[in-house]
Amino acid sequence: MKAKELKKKYLDFFRSKGHAIIPSAPLIPEHDPSVLFTTAGMHPLVVFFLEQEHPLGKRVANVQKCIRTGDIDEVGDATHHTFFEMLGNWSFGDYFKKEAIEMTFEFLTKVLGLPLSHLAFTCFAGDKDAPKDEESAKFWRNLGAPEGRVAFLGKEDNWWGPAGETGPCGPSTEMYYWTSKDMPPEKFDVNDKRWVEIGNDVIIEYEKTKSGNFKPLTKKSIDFGGGVERTIAVLNGLDDNYLTDLFLPIIKEIEKITKKKYEEYTKQMRIIADHMRASVFILGDERGAVPSNVDQGYILRRFIRRAIRHLKSLGVKDINTSLFAEKIISMYKEEYPLLEEKQNFILDELHKEEQKFMKTLENGLRKFETMTAISERINGKDAFLLFQSYGFPIEMTRELAEEKGVIVDEALFAVEFEKHQQLSRVGAEKKFKGGLSDASEETTKLHTATHLLNEALRRILKEDIRQRGSNITAERLRFDFNFYRKLTSEELKAVEDEVNRVIQLQLDVERKEMLLDDALKSGAHGEFGAKYPAKVSVYSVSDYSKEICMGPHVKNVSELGTFKIIKEESSSAGIRRIKAVLK
Ligand code: ALA
Repeated sequence: MKAKELKKKYLDFFRSKGHAIIPSAPLIPEHDPSVLFTTAGMHPLVVFFLEQEHPLGKRVANVQKCIRTGDIDEVGDATHHTFFEMLGNWSFGDYFKKEAIEMTFEFLTKVLGLPLSHLAFTCFAGDKDAPKDEESAKFWRNLGAPEGRVAFLGKEDNWWGPAGETGPCGPSTEMYYWTSKDMPPEKFDVNDKRWVEIGNDVIIEYEKTKSGNFKPLTKKSIDFGGGVERTIAVLNGLDDNYLTDLFLPIIKEIEKITKKKYEEYTKQMRIIADHMRASVFILGDERGAVPSNVDQGYILRRFIRRAIRHLKSLGVKDINTSLFAEKIISMYKEEYPLLEEKQNFILDELHKEEQKFMKTLENGLRKFETMTAISERINGKDAFLLFQSYGFPIEMTRELAEEKGVIVDEALFAVEFEKHQQLSRVGAEKKFKGGLSDASEETTKLHTATHLLNEALRRILKEDIRQRGSNITAERLRFDFNFYRKLTSEELKAVEDEVNRVIQLQLDVERKEMLLDDALKSGAHGEFGAKYPAKVSVYSVSDYSKEICMGPHVKNVSELGTFKIIKEESSSAGIRRIKAVLK
């Protein structure tokens, strides 16, 4: 089976079970300063597990693009990736364990045709936070699972979430598939790597609070997640995800360009394939980033440079990562048409980054040689120097060090790096850990202020200003929009005054659910290039501003205080960026 067919079968099946199919949210989360990338299908949906209702109802499903950087060091083995796609189906206070388990079972055994003899299921063993999940075990057994194939495991295995420090979470029940040609043993053993986890139903019944307690939720929900890469590998009897149709064409391209064999240079080629795919998706995202030394841009830079270094180590002299990008775009453009629309931009940015890296790479390698000639240890400052002056991502320094048998003091590098990120006034690596949509009072206010700013720009500049990106932290808002030149200080002042004028009007903020077409017809603004589901929430500030948005927002704009623009700069060609605060 091909990956596209798997995704289609999954969505068709859950559609037939009353689920509305929603588009993948962007890879770069909207209004969530605590995390750099969307890490799971449920992540953009967190608010719907709490009070808010989803405009499309209580059952939704999708295929979500995700990036997890936590496993970056694992990339190079057969199954770990940074970018991946996740199959997801959700019940927001609708069906619960029984129906979820029955649907998952039907999908795996009937739709995908996996034999029950090769399946096993795990349930939560119970601890001080939540009881043993006998119920789920019973449902699996009722469907025919033998005793030995239903196991109970602790929190490390059978608990998911919250995505950040706080939020919806709960025990999970997971499905495993026997991947070996040997006969599957009667009894499941989590330590036997021939059992591969292919999906999990998270039973969302708790909210982890700031104090670390698990508060039972009145709305009991389900969050299913299954990795496309893994599932397609096991369906095809492969124990290497890179041999599936999701990667093989990229690997072939790498073999062609390096004139080397995958069998011999497996690890390097996997890293190149994984990192190039992730880079294409970040650059080609609705909210895409470009390479830089901070935040998403820094992750992107690391992916591109690590891929380049491995290409060089495989003997490639004229680096041209665009060749891989073109291949990847052609593989995914049907499902993600924006990749094709942004093709020139993606290739351009890759080219620019290659040029930058090439300038410093040779000197950096020389520097690395001098450092390691006199010591068997690269201290934190030196590792940071390699990063700061020669653009060496830490993984690269680590890999070079490993090859040479020297040690890198990564803890001290992290201290230096943290200082650098603080100086750049951006979040540090802790953001990788993942997090929830931050709905604190500060971010909620800034969120509403963003809508006022958007409208004020349109009125003052008298242009068709469209949102091109937004990022909100507790301290400030950042808003990107299309405009061809720098704003004058008079214009900035006028925009600021306009927002403050509207705040003074004490207008109410209202949320309405509408069909997307009706919303657009009614004049609601959306983000340029964003994909919206058929039914959306529209937030109006009286009749001043109307935007398609998930919220959260204040009830009345008088809550905002005073609006102040602190910076206006270029974000990329034709895109301006404003940073502003509320006082
Ligand atoms: N949210 C769950 C996961 O990421 C389904 O595995």
